[in-house]
Amino acid sequence: MTTLADRAATAVDGARQWSRLMEMAQIGSIAGGGVNRACLTPLDRDARRRLMAWAQAAGATVTIDDAANLWLRREGSDPAAAPVLTGSHMDSQPEGGRFDGIYGVIAGLEVLEAMHAAGLRTRRAIEVVAWTNEEGGRFAPGCMGSMAWSGTRRLADFADARDPEGIRFEDALSAHLAAEADVPRRPLVSAPRPAAYVEAHIEQGPLLEAAGEDIGVVTGIQGSRWYTVTITGETAHAGTTPLKLRRDAVQDMVRAITALNALMDDPTDVLRFTVGRVEVAPNAPNSVANRARFTIDFRHPDGAVLAARGDAVADAIRAALRGTTAEVQETSHALPNVFEPTVVDAIERAAASLGLRHRRMPSGAGHDAQFVAPLCPSGMIFVPCRGGISHNPAEYASPDQLAAGTRVLATTLADLAAA
Ligand code: GLV
Ligand code: MN
Ligand code: MN
Repeated sequence: MTTLADRAATAVDGARQWSRLMEMAQIGSIAGGGVNRACLTPLDRDARRRLMAWAQAAGATVTIDDAANLWLRREGSDPAAAPVLTGSHMDSQPEGGRFDGIYGVIAGLEVLEAMHAAGLRTRRAIEVVAWTNEEGGRFAPGCMGSMAWSGTRRLADFADARDPEGIRFEDALSAHLAAEADVPRRPLVSAPRPAAYVEAHIEQGPLLEAAGEDIGVVTGIQGSRWYTVTITGETAHAGTTPLKLRRDAVQDMVRAITALNALMDDPTDVLRFTVGRVEVAPNAPNSVANRARFTIDFRHPDGAVLAARGDAVADAIRAALRGTTAEVQETSHALPNVFEPTVVDAIERAAASLGLRHRRMPSGAGHDAQFVAPLCPSGMIFVPCRGGISHNPAEYASPDQLAAGTRVLATTLADLAAA
């Protein structure tokens, strides 16, 4: 017997999905085939308008909440039943690829379009959500939209986050919402709770491709802590000021990072420690720097390691300084999470029923799913990407690989929306 889930998977159109992705890749395209589409910029707005038009043409209703998360809803036969959610993010890294985030949104849209074209109606509504500011590349931390929606943090906590130009998050958000005033507003609340959440994403690592597998059934996401460190010294003349009189912010930043590398040393190579952004003032070749600011991205799957080494960061920095002072601000602390079986098992069943090679695996990258998971059964579908490359313009997944992931998504959503 052909089930609704089978028909949904069969109706997925890999060519339509690919053309939608390639159209999105034009919005903010950069050299090397990549994308720079920072959240809440005019480019982000263009991409969202395009998405809304496609969704409305497929019979979905579109709403936006106070965090500018965008919601596309395909009504179910029982509108009072809790919906099943899917989605991801549309913002990119400054030198990002064409698939990180946007694939999960377009895959969700493709499921809505497939169901619309095939005339399929699930019991529960299916909602596709495009979360605001997942990447954190413009405003730190990332995942602001899903954290605010889930109640992990208050939206107001992010108001004063500034982008590299000094623009406040709250001001960028207000301007965006004003520009989108024609889109009906929905409350920023996660009650009543959704029935389930499923996020499709490229793997961003090399394992699936190396093993010749089609689908990663994600079991959980490692934890992460983000910090912004500001070292303050004193500017002085580079040609005349003796070393012992200097309060050199750049030299102390180097000492601090060296101390952090020792603190974060892990011969097993499980721990991830990254300094990805450095800003120096006055940023002149012949002036001693009076300010150096850098970010820390620290991740580990074990909450105890995350707690112990993360709690030691500020002291390690301060002990390394000679003459400057440091302010250490923790901007995010996400605990490791393990997805409960409901959605993980449904994804695995879907991959098996479609005859796809699959494996269970944890996620090294962070995703909005980790902030939805405390509220409802959640899970993620990974598809392979070439060489495991991501956060890079060369990021690539083939139309067939992406279509396979979306067939698994369609099957899983149909299954969960029937329950
Ligand atoms: C998301 O891109 C992350 O930082 O893991
Ligand atoms: Mn992503
Ligand atoms: Mn990313």
